Amino acid sequence: MNPPLIVLGVTGSIAAHKAIEVASQLTKAGRRVQVVLTADAQRFVQPLPFKTLSRMPVVTDLYDEEEGWRPTHIRLADEAALLLVAPVTANTLAKLALGLADDALSCLALALNPQAKVLLAPAMNGKMWLHPATQGHVATLRSRGAEFIGPEEGLLSCGYEGLGRLWPVEGIVARALALTPTS
Ligand SMILES: Cc1cc2nc3c(=O)[nH]c(=O)nc-3n(C[C@H](O)[C@H](O)[C@H](O)COP(=O)(O)O)c2cc1C
Repeated sequence: MNPPLIVLGVTGSIAAHKAIEVASQLTKAGRRVQVVLTADAQRFVQPLPFKTLSRMPVVTDLYDEEEGWRPTHIRLADEAALLLVAPVTANTLAKLALGLADDALSCLALALNPQAKVLLAPAMNGKMWLHPATQGHVATLRSRGAEFIGPEEGLLSCGYEGLGRLWPVEGIVARALALTPTS
Protein backbone atom coordinates (compact mmCIF):
# COMPACT_ATOMS: atom_id res chain seq x y z
CA MET A 1 0.00 0.00 0.00
CA ASN A 2 1.15 3.54 -0.74
CA PRO A 3 2.36 5.58 2.25
CA PRO A 4 0.01 8.42 3.28
CA LEU A 5 0.13 11.47 1.02
CA ILE A 6 0.90 14.80 2.67
CA VAL A 7 0.25 17.87 0.55
CA LEU A 8 2.63 20.56 1.80
CA GLY A 9 1.42 24.02 0.84
CA VAL A 10 4.01 26.77 1.11
CA THR A 11 2.99 30.43 0.99
CA GLY A 12 4.71 33.80 0.67
CA SER A 13 6.37 34.27 4.03
CA ILE A 14 9.97 35.01 4.91
CA ALA A 15 9.77 31.67 6.80
CA ALA A 16 9.13 29.76 3.53
CA HIS A 17 12.72 28.46 3.45
CA LYS A 18 11.98 26.44 6.61
CA ALA A 19 9.44 24.40 4.64
CA ILE A 20 12.34 22.82 2.72
CA GLU A 21 13.40 21.08 5.94
CA VAL A 22 9.77 20.11 6.66
CA ALA A 23 9.54 18.46 3.21
CA SER A 24 12.86 16.70 3.73
CA GLN A 25 12.03 15.32 7.19
CA LEU A 26 8.54 14.13 6.20
CA THR A 27 9.97 12.34 3.17
CA LYS A 28 12.70 10.71 5.26
CA ALA A 29 9.98 9.54 7.66
CA GLY A 30 8.39 7.58 4.81
CA ARG A 31 5.52 9.87 3.82
CA ARG A 32 4.76 10.86 0.22
CA VAL A 33 5.12 14.63 0.14
CA GLN A 34 3.66 16.70 -2.65
CA VAL A 35 4.63 20.36 -2.45
CA VAL A 36 2.41 23.14 -3.75
CA LEU A 37 4.00 26.62 -3.89
CA THR A 38 1.92 29.77 -4.23
CA ALA A 39 3.12 32.41 -6.67
CA ASP A 40 4.24 34.57 -3.75
CA ALA A 41 6.08 31.66 -2.11
CA GLN A 42 8.17 31.52 -5.27
CA ARG A 43 9.42 35.05 -4.50
CA PHE A 44 11.08 33.50 -1.42
CA VAL A 45 11.97 29.91 -2.41
CA GLN A 46 12.59 27.91 -5.60
CA PRO A 47 10.80 24.66 -6.54
CA LEU A 48 14.12 22.83 -7.06
CA PRO A 49 15.05 21.97 -3.44
CA PHE A 50 11.48 20.82 -2.76
CA LYS A 51 11.45 18.66 -5.90
CA THR A 52 14.82 17.10 -5.06
CA LEU A 53 14.14 16.46 -1.36
CA SER A 54 10.54 15.26 -1.76
CA ARG A 55 11.42 13.29 -4.92
CA MET A 56 8.15 14.48 -6.43
CA PRO A 57 7.24 17.17 -8.96
CA VAL A 58 6.26 20.48 -7.38
CA VAL A 59 3.00 22.23 -8.26
CA THR A 60 3.74 25.88 -9.01
CA ASP A 61 0.89 26.96 -11.27
CA LEU A 62 -2.77 25.98 -11.55
CA TYR A 63 -2.52 26.14 -15.36
CA ASP A 64 0.76 24.29 -15.76
CA GLU A 65 0.17 20.93 -14.13
CA GLU A 66 2.22 18.19 -15.70
CA GLU A 67 -0.03 15.14 -15.80
CA GLY A 68 -2.66 13.80 -18.25
CA TRP A 69 -6.21 15.02 -18.52
CA ARG A 70 -7.02 15.16 -14.82
CA PRO A 71 -6.01 18.38 -13.03
CA THR A 72 -3.20 17.58 -10.57
CA HIS A 73 -4.75 19.68 -7.82
CA ILE A 74 -7.96 17.59 -7.96
CA ARG A 75 -6.03 14.30 -7.87
CA LEU A 76 -4.06 15.58 -4.88
CA ALA A 77 -7.24 16.79 -3.16
CA ASP A 78 -8.73 13.31 -3.61
CA GLU A 79 -5.64 11.40 -2.41
CA ALA A 80 -4.34 13.58 0.44
CA ALA A 81 -4.35 12.22 3.99
CA LEU A 82 -3.17 15.61 5.27
CA LEU A 83 -3.08 19.14 3.94
CA LEU A 84 -0.27 20.90 5.81
CA VAL A 85 0.31 24.56 5.03
CA ALA A 86 3.62 25.71 6.53
CA PRO A 87 4.10 28.58 6.62
CA VAL A 88 0.57 29.85 6.06
CA THR A 89 0.27 33.60 5.43
CA ALA A 90 -2.51 35.89 6.62
CA ASN A 91 -3.60 36.08 2.99
CA THR A 92 -3.89 32.32 2.47
CA LEU A 93 -5.59 31.88 5.87
CA ALA A 94 -8.23 34.37 4.76
CA LYS A 95 -8.65 32.63 1.41
CA LEU A 96 -9.07 29.23 3.07
CA ALA A 97 -11.63 30.59 5.53
CA LEU A 98 -13.62 32.32 2.80
CA GLY A 99 -13.40 29.45 0.33
CA LEU A 100 -11.66 31.47 -2.37
CA ALA A 101 -10.15 29.39 -5.14
CA ASP A 102 -7.84 31.41 -7.37
CA ASP A 103 -4.65 29.33 -7.35
CA ALA A 104 -3.58 25.67 -7.12
CA LEU A 105 -3.34 25.60 -3.30
CA SER A 106 -6.69 27.25 -2.61
CA CYS A 107 -8.48 25.15 -5.29
CA LEU A 108 -6.97 22.01 -3.76
CA ALA A 109 -8.03 23.06 -0.25
CA LEU A 110 -11.60 23.65 -1.39
CA ALA A 111 -11.75 20.31 -3.23
CA LEU A 112 -10.11 18.40 -0.37
CA ASN A 113 -11.64 15.01 0.46
CA PRO A 114 -13.52 15.12 3.77
CA GLN A 115 -11.32 12.43 5.40
CA ALA A 116 -8.18 14.54 5.00
CA LYS A 117 -6.88 16.41 8.01
CA VAL A 118 -5.79 20.04 7.83
CA LEU A 119 -2.81 21.38 9.79
CA LEU A 120 -1.92 25.06 9.52
CA ALA A 121 1.33 26.63 10.74
CA PRO A 122 0.97 30.43 10.60
CA ALA A 123 3.86 32.87 10.28
CA MET A 124 3.29 36.59 10.11
CA ASN A 125 3.77 39.96 11.74
CA GLY A 126 2.21 39.99 15.22
CA LYS A 127 -0.34 42.67 14.35
CA MET A 128 -1.45 40.67 11.32
CA TRP A 129 -1.92 37.59 13.51
CA LEU A 130 -3.83 39.42 16.24
CA HIS A 131 -6.00 41.45 13.85
CA PRO A 132 -9.69 40.60 14.39
CA ALA A 133 -9.98 39.70 10.69
CA THR A 134 -7.27 37.05 10.99
CA GLN A 135 -8.56 35.79 14.34
CA GLY A 136 -12.05 35.50 12.83
CA HIS A 137 -10.64 33.39 9.98
CA VAL A 138 -8.77 31.21 12.49
CA ALA A 139 -12.00 30.61 14.43
CA THR A 140 -13.86 29.74 11.21
CA LEU A 141 -11.20 27.27 10.13
CA ARG A 142 -11.04 25.69 13.61
CA SER A 143 -14.82 25.27 13.61
CA ARG A 144 -14.44 23.27 10.39
CA GLY A 145 -11.87 20.96 11.99
CA ALA A 146 -8.60 22.56 10.93
CA GLU A 147 -5.82 22.34 13.50
CA PHE A 148 -3.34 25.14 14.15
CA ILE A 149 0.25 24.73 15.28
CA GLY A 150 1.74 28.03 16.47
CA PRO A 151 2.60 30.74 15.91
CA GLU A 152 5.16 31.23 18.65
CA GLU A 153 6.45 34.35 20.34
CA GLY A 154 9.86 35.80 19.52
CA LEU A 155 11.79 38.19 17.34
CA LEU A 156 9.96 38.50 14.03
CA SER A 157 11.71 39.08 10.72
CA CYS A 158 9.79 42.36 10.33
CA GLY A 159 11.91 43.65 13.24
CA TYR A 160 9.22 43.46 15.93
CA GLU A 161 9.09 41.19 18.96
CA GLY A 162 5.77 39.33 19.27
CA LEU A 163 3.50 36.43 18.45
CA GLY A 164 3.91 35.40 14.82
CA ARG A 165 6.96 33.19 14.38
CA LEU A 166 6.59 29.88 12.59
CA TRP A 167 6.46 27.00 15.08
CA PRO A 168 9.78 25.06 15.20
CA VAL A 169 10.17 22.69 12.25
CA GLU A 170 10.63 19.62 14.48
CA GLY A 171 7.26 20.29 16.15
CA ILE A 172 5.46 20.74 12.81
CA VAL A 173 6.99 17.54 11.46
CA ALA A 174 6.12 15.55 14.61
CA ARG A 175 2.48 16.67 14.48
CA ALA A 176 2.19 15.97 10.74
CA LEU A 177 3.57 12.47 11.28
CA ALA A 178 1.18 11.84 14.17
CA LEU A 179 -1.73 12.86 11.92
CA THR A 180 -0.62 10.47 9.14
CA PRO A 181 0.12 7.11 10.75
CA THR A 182 1.53 4.49 8.39
CA SER A 183 -0.28 1.55 10.01
C1 LIG B 1 9.72 40.38 2.80
C2 LIG B 1 8.28 39.95 2.97
C3 LIG B 1 7.96 39.05 3.95
C4 LIG B 1 6.63 38.66 4.15
N1 LIG B 1 6.35 37.78 5.15
C5 LIG B 1 5.06 37.45 5.39
C6 LIG B 1 4.75 36.58 6.46
O1 LIG B 1 5.63 36.04 7.16
N2 LIG B 1 3.45 36.30 6.69
C7 LIG B 1 2.43 36.84 5.95
O2 LIG B 1 1.27 36.58 6.24
N3 LIG B 1 2.71 37.65 4.90
C8 LIG B 1 4.00 37.96 4.60
N4 LIG B 1 4.28 38.80 3.55
C9 LIG B 1 3.18 39.25 2.68
C10 LIG B 1 2.73 38.14 1.72
O3 LIG B 1 3.83 37.74 0.90
C11 LIG B 1 1.57 38.61 0.84
O4 LIG B 1 0.43 38.83 1.67
C12 LIG B 1 1.24 37.64 -0.27
O5 LIG B 1 0.14 38.15 -1.00
C13 LIG B 1 0.92 36.25 0.24
O6 LIG B 1 0.50 35.45 -0.85
P1 LIG B 1 0.14 33.90 -0.66
O7 LIG B 1 -0.67 33.78 0.57
O8 LIG B 1 -0.64 33.56 -1.89
O9 LIG B 1 1.43 33.15 -0.65
C14 LIG B 1 5.60 39.17 3.31
C15 LIG B 1 5.95 40.06 2.28
C16 LIG B 1 7.26 40.44 2.11
C17 LIG B 1 7.59 41.39 0.99
